[in-house]
Amino acid sequence: MILTYQKQCQARVNATLESALQTPSEALHRLYQAMRYSVLNGGKRVRPLLVYAACETLQGMPEQADGAACAVELIHAYSLVHDDLPAMDDDDLRRGQPTTHKAFDEASAILAGDGLQALAFEVLADARFTPQHAELRLQMVRILAHAAGPAGMVGGQAIDLAAVGQPLTQHELETMDRHKTGALIEASVQLGALASGHADEVSLQALRAYARAVGLAFQVQDDILDIESDTATLGKRQGADVAHDKPTYPALLGLDAAKAYARTLCDQAIDALHPFSDCAEPLRELALYTIERRH
Ligand code: IPE
Ligand code: IPE
Ligand code: MG
Ligand code: MG
Ligand code: MG
Repeated sequence: MILTYQKQCQARVNATLESALQTPSEALHRLYQAMRYSVLNGGKRVRPLLVYAACETLQGMPEQADGAACAVELIHAYSLVHDDLPAMDDDDLRRGQPTTHKAFDEASAILAGDGLQALAFEVLADARFTPQHAELRLQMVRILAHAAGPAGMVGGQAIDLAAVGQPLTQHELETMDRHKTGALIEASVQLGALASGHADEVSLQALRAYARAVGLAFQVQDDILDIESDTATLGKRQGADVAHDKPTYPALLGLDAAKAYARTLCDQAIDALHPFSDCAEPLRELALYTIERRH
């Protein structure tokens, strides 16, 4: 990973997140504390990095992508807060700290997640964060809503919960992962491309193929790390998938075949970038990072 580039993008999105999460009044202090705790607690910021990298691939400037980068991370953080709840994965460690419902309480975690989700759309629709013209902003809002909602991430989470303890076919597993993880990653790339103001159908198609492969590879690697990594490195409980009998790629295919599959998807992603010049280097690096990361 080009570390300087990664650090610059992380600093940009962290500044935007900080400004979107200013506590408006004393009465809302606890809610905002829970939201801030859930977002400003580290995290790799992979989805914002994809937004910036896709924008750069189409010769856009980073400041054009700040709103979209912030919005996708807000949705992602909300999805993690709810994913960790006792009714879902029942996890008590996230990004090396107690999960939001452990640090606060369940009701606060539910509300923090709800608040983060709504805030994402406010940021994306607000010209102060998203400088694109109104019609483009509306298109971006629709893309994020579709990816976050029942036809995307929420749908994937529903499939995931229904599948606990059920043997899934590879096709069913892929459908689940394309929804729960792939949809938001695909939206991140698409939003970055649109934010550049230079997205044409040919580039969008190539970027979609890239994002589809990276989105799936990201979850395959997440499943692999649940087995191979350790709790301290991951910042979340290692072995949680096995303990909860979650349907995962290593469970279905075995560890070696899961790794080979992640590599194939990464190669597919990089191949999809052939129409682009050196500007696509950050996207190439991110595809490799997806499967080489250790947490
Ligand atoms: C974890 O996402 C949840 C998945 C969708 C696999 P990340 O691995 O991006 O988590 P953070 O944001 O870095 O904590
Ligand atoms: C999470 O998948 C997908 C989300 C939409 C949050 P996981 O349940 O595998 O994510 P982790 O392993 O808890 O981060
Ligand atoms: Mg889960
Ligand atoms: Mg989980
Ligand atoms: Mg996981």
